[in-house]
Amino acid sequence: MRILAFETSCDDTSVALFEGKNLLALSTKSQIMQHAQTAGVVPEVAARLHENVIFDAIDAIFAESGTTLAEVEHIACTTEPGLMPSLLVGMTVAKTLAHELGVPLIPVNHIHAHILANWLERESDEIPLPAVCLTVSGGHTELYRVDDFFSKTTLGRTRDDAAGEAFDKVAKMLGLGFPGGPHVAGYSAEHAREFRGIFPLPLLAPDSLDFSFSGLKSAVRREIEIRMSERELTLDDIREICHEFEMRVVEILVHKTMLAAKREAIQSVLIAGGVSANDRLQTRLAEECEKNGLRFFVPVKKIYSLDNAAMVGMTAYLHITRGESETKS
Ligand code: KG4
Ligand code: ZN
Repeated sequence: MRILAFETSCDDTSVALFEGKNLLALSTKSQIMQHAQTAGVVPEVAARLHENVIFDAIDAIFAESGTTLAEVEHIACTTEPGLMPSLLVGMTVAKTLAHELGVPLIPVNHIHAHILANWLERESDEIPLPAVCLTVSGGHTELYRVDDFFSKTTLGRTRDDAAGEAFDKVAKMLGLGFPGGPHVAGYSAEHAREFRGIFPLPLLAPDSLDFSFSGLKSAVRREIEIRMSERELTLDDIREICHEFEMRVVEILVHKTMLAAKREAIQSVLIAGGVSANDRLQTRLAEECEKNGLRFFVPVKKIYSLDNAAMVGMTAYLHITRGESETKS
């Protein structure tokens, strides 16, 4: 079963090819350099950049896998949520190819695909379910109970900024690069002094599984303004602010995830989305899960945490095989 998958929901043009559950080739063309100039994604610019490179990405995966378009039996594409101009590029190419080849087109939800990225390069039964999944990206911060590949319940979500968005905004305030997460994490790792807790820890009500990052973001802005009213920020200031901020975000995410895990009496904890590539978050969640006798899973490669078409192809594969087994039984 040969599946061709597309992901163009934001600023990565990604195409993947699968034979069954095996990834044959993945080509992801990032627009980070172009968006760095505006320190954020301008949707129309992103769409034009997708359009410029999408056929190169398609050619690259067929060259890498030594296969041809004619062998494709299913096409999968992210259709929501995301930037509409960006989504439309992938959807138009996918729909046209599906029409020309006469093969089914499988629409895939981006957040769902991030969650199912945990099954890339893993056996279908390797992750004990039910699980709690923390989904943290540039546009989303949610906690889900996952009962099955296609059955999930929302337990909590952000009331304002997404976690990745907060990383990006703090990086912008400090004049660091885009996207902000890896830059903030990098400066934070260089901070040599103790964590002081200079920023608030917004947890909302004690039993709430919702998140709020806007107060923390405002506190960072105030701290930068206070320091800059006296002098220019030093490298030590940047490292300290990144560290204090990252520690707080990670603490909030870990606290809520473990609260959800205990309440739902599940067996596994998963993380998904761009912020799940954060090393401190992975380490802290692994520690807490170990303490509480829970299994902890992260997508096996960092590229599977970020936007990529492999997660879209995996979602389509699970969809098709479940459909087939349902037909057979
Ligand atoms: O899932 P993703 O690639 O795209 C969206 O669907 O939004 O997530 C991108 C987000 C950005 O906000 C980026 O700053 C954040 O993920 N991110 C990180 C790290 N790597 C990417 N945040 C914290 N630490 C990281 N290492
Ligand atoms: Zn994403």
